[in-house]
Amino acid sequence: MTPQLISTVAELRSELDRRRALGHTIGLVPTMGYLHAGHGSLMQAAGETCDTVAASIYVNPLQFGAGEDLSSYPRDLQRDTEIAAGREVDILFVPTEEELHPLGPPLTEINVPSLASVWEGASRPTHFVGVATIVNTLLNIVGPCAAFFGEKDFQQLAIINRMVADLSLPVEIIGCPTVREPDGLAMSSRNSYLTRDEREAAAILRLALDAGEAVIKGGAREPQEVIRAMGAVVNGEPLAKLDYATVVDPATLEIPPVLMNDVRLLIAAQVGRTRLIDNCGVSIHGDPT
Ligand code: PAF
Repeated sequence: MTPQLISTVAELRSELDRRRALGHTIGLVPTMGYLHAGHGSLMQAAGETCDTVAASIYVNPLQFGAGEDLSSYPRDLQRDTEIAAGREVDILFVPTEEELHPLGPPLTEINVPSLASVWEGASRPTHFVGVATIVNTLLNIVGPCAAFFGEKDFQQLAIINRMVADLSLPVEIIGCPTVREPDGLAMSSRNSYLTRDEREAAAILRLALDAGEAVIKGGAREPQEVIRAMGAVVNGEPLAKLDYATVVDPATLEIPPVLMNDVRLLIAAQVGRTRLIDNCGVSIHGDPT
């Protein structure tokens, strides 16, 4: 069924209130549009656990730095509506800039500095303030709900989890597994920028994560050993330029002195003009203490 298209905050709130009065739980999938199977999996997860699924589409200027791809970011509402319909989304919230920020660009910012300034934040210093600010706004508009985010943007997920906990927002954050192309490339709207050769080369990120995971499974507990193994794989691909490869504590995003329990491998590389990121979790169990 075609989702109900809503563009105003007032209409969204009253429609969600109406549904809550019927006893519905609400699932929210915030997106920037140009939907792909990764978003589809979030919508499906929301549909499996919530009675009403709302997805938002808003290309958030606050999270793009100067010279980034805000103006060229792919947009296709017709196609997005069809994909959302296929995933049984009930409500598609597509606000304009003026609707979300009638007073002009927001003066209020949400920052989670220690999580937002590292890794992606080191190359994109304003990015996560923009993300946290808009996600907080969307969560305030929607109210109590479960909100679904992809693990593909792992640092974003860590920041949102921390923001929701710190601010006691009445929201349950659900992280969903990354959806991948057959060669392992994580799905992303930005994959559409890749040329054919770059698209082939882009699979190197997943291969580097696999190499890092193999080194840990082989017994490495020294972070630099894992970091070196991931970097070597990316450096072997001429079309890719490594930004960072690292292994972190999933909550603090810091490199632990010794690897133990659950760790997260994070990687970012430039492939042609496109910056790609990926990550995976590795559980280390059974080490003698
Ligand atoms: O992950 C995204 O698509 C965006 O960062 C989000 C969460 C929709 C905020 O604009």
